[in-house]
Amino acid sequence: MKRKIRVALYGVGVIGSMVAKFLLEKEGLEIVGAVDVAKDKVGKDLGDIVGINKHLGITISDDADTVLSKTKPDVAVHTTTSFMEKVYPQIAQIVKHGVNVVSTCEELSYPYLSSSKLARELDTLAKKHDATVLGTGINPGFLMDTLVIALTAPCQEIKRIKVVRVMNAATRRVPFQKKIGAGLSAAEFREKIEHKIISGHVGLEQSITMIAAALAWELDKIQVDAVEPVIAKKTVRSDAIRVEAGQAAGLRQCAYGVRNGQKVISLEFQAYIGAEEEYDAITIEGTPIIKQKISPCVHGDVGTIAMVCNSIPKVINAEAGLVTMKDLPVPSAAVEDMRKYVKP
Ligand SMILES: NC(=O)c1ccc[n+]([C@@H]2O[C@H](COP(=O)([O-])OP(=O)(O)OC[C@H]3O[C@@H](n4cnc5c(N)ncnc54)[C@H](OP(=O)(O)O)[C@@H]3O)[C@@H](O)[C@H]2O)c1
Repeated sequence: MKRKIRVALYGVGVIGSMVAKFLLEKEGLEIVGAVDVAKDKVGKDLGDIVGINKHLGITISDDADTVLSKTKPDVAVHTTTSFMEKVYPQIAQIVKHGVNVVSTCEELSYPYLSSSKLARELDTLAKKHDATVLGTGINPGFLMDTLVIALTAPCQEIKRIKVVRVMNAATRRVPFQKKIGAGLSAAEFREKIEHKIISGHVGLEQSITMIAAALAWELDKIQVDAVEPVIAKKTVRSDAIRVEAGQAAGLRQCAYGVRNGQKVISLEFQAYIGAEEEYDAITIEGTPIIKQKISPCVHGDVGTIAMVCNSIPKVINAEAGLVTMKDLPVPSAAVEDMRKYVKP
């Protein structure tokens, strides 16, 4: 590809802004448009909103159709919300312009169980308009699914897979700290989780489904335990939130893929302010046994930005349709001029 890859941002919140700043430093690629509905962003210059001391001449608009038809991007980086029902119309809108999509929507990472009808419709629509759609990120998208799948490659047989991710949420973006309930009393935490006012981590079911699909394991069911607060034993704090002893510092979530009555895939996710040991651990009980521990854990926001941007050339190269990380070539970083990774 000789000309620069043209990228539009659809969603300029915390992650969209971090993506923008990262892409502005990359060679072989240009940001050509930006869409967001937040009233305090619409009409502003992208440079002001992402917090760089420079006007970029790109005005954030809430009119996605106009932005997409005028700027004709190759890819839209979509970072608005976590749920398929909400993002479906947004992604359908992008795809109808024949534009590829890389999205951080967690449920889109492997939507074939939780939102199978919408997934099929999106796949059909994307094929019709010759566009590729991918849901990715650090988790779901890599640490608790794609990496796990890659680690099964040297196994002759597998009995069980266990994955644990533990992180100190103080180092993560503020919307994340809020969605894990940091700073709430235990009662408020349970009430807000129950009424879906805070979402907790979204994606464990999608990760389990992706792993099972890669292994062609038919699961009896996916069991999801109630989300539990991790209660602070002493005062802990992030830059934005102070958590007193006895309050929720974050959460612990577990989900299991059950096959023939056995929990064959176990995912445990812990994110709380003040976690002292941070790690990503994968254990595959099989032949051979595989134990892998990344310590400290991969930083979620940094990793998400990289996963999204590194996926841009892979999505441009892919066949049209809804694809998942499991379907794409081996994930890898795109550290050189981005055009070098696009097939001629
Ligand atoms: N897979 C992963 O590993 C991973 C990692 C990180 C984040 N994520 C997900 O990525 C998403 C973005 O995260 P974030 O922290 O950047 O959230 P955020 O700060 O809330 O940003 C989202 C932005 O999108 C805007 N928006 C909402 N609906 C829109 C629409 N229909 N059209 C255009 N813009 C719209 C929001 O405006 P309003 O504020 O007005 O709603 C906001 O400005 C979240 O769902 C998050 O959970 C996934």
